[in-house]
Amino acid sequence: MSDLGFNKIAGAVLATGLAIVGLTELSSIVFKSEPPAKPGYAVEIAAEESAGGAAVELPIDWGTELPKADVAAGEAVAKKCQSCHDFASGGPNMTGPNLFGVLGRKPASHGGFAYSAGMSDFAGKHPQWDYETINTFVTAPQKDVAGTKMTFVGLKKREDRINLIAYLHTLGSTLSIPAPNPAAAAAPAPAAGDKAAPADAKAADGKAEAKPADAKAAGEAKAGETKTAEAKPADAKTAAPAAKK
Ligand code: HEC
Repeated sequence: MSDLGFNKIAGAVLATGLAIVGLTELSSIVFKSEPPAKPGYAVEIAAEESAGGAAVELPIDWGTELPKADVAAGEAVAKKCQSCHDFASGGPNMTGPNLFGVLGRKPASHGGFAYSAGMSDFAGKHPQWDYETINTFVTAPQKDVAGTKMTFVGLKKREDRINLIAYLHTLGSTLSIPAPNPAAAAAPAPAAGDKAAPADAKAADGKAEAKPADAKAAGEAKAGETKTAEAKPADAKTAAPAAKK
């Protein structure tokens, strides 16, 4: 009786096992499962986007940047201006006006120089050349001051401009250096510093997107980093039937 009971149970187990194997085989025939070309999820991290984000000009906090700027490097940058500008105190006007003491000076006001109408108009809207005004002008002169006769392509590198302006500040500037105001640059600052996680940079790119986007992007970053671990859910589904073949 007990032997018979055991046989029945063993038979049932065997039958169940066979049924499972049969079903698996059958399902692998019915639902043909192709192993993925690349195991795991393809996590798209837009690397170029973070590069694009870096290209966006962040506001310059002059109180922070000027004291640590490289004045000697700025003097070297100023060589690009010297074909047209003299920088010495009491120096001559050349193709462009003398630039000694230009920081704090009213635009288009240097004696003995015939400024363009464009620069004179500009002077009506900007009472003086302050750090930001010169920075914007020198970045792309023709774009900033329509009709200027300064035919200079502009300084694209932020660092060059900061160093140059620090150098100009040593030449009879009447401006004072403002107190550091990191708050002004605080919002975008983490984006520049946090280069570690690419997805992070992407999230920071959309500055205003704040937390939710950040969390999502961070999750993606994790998935990207731990590819093998993340591959499991996809693997389990597709690999199991394949393995039984
Ligand atoms: C190809 C010649 C040329 C070069 C190079 C050049 N400038 Fe000029 N710059 C001019 C001329 C011309 C003007 C007068 C613009 C006008 O009247 O529209 C001028 C005007 C200026 C002014 C306004 C001065 C004022 O009195 O209002 C500033 C500031 C200035 N240049 C800075 C620079 C700096 C900094 C560089 C180098 C990075 C530079 N320039 C390179 C020709 C040049």
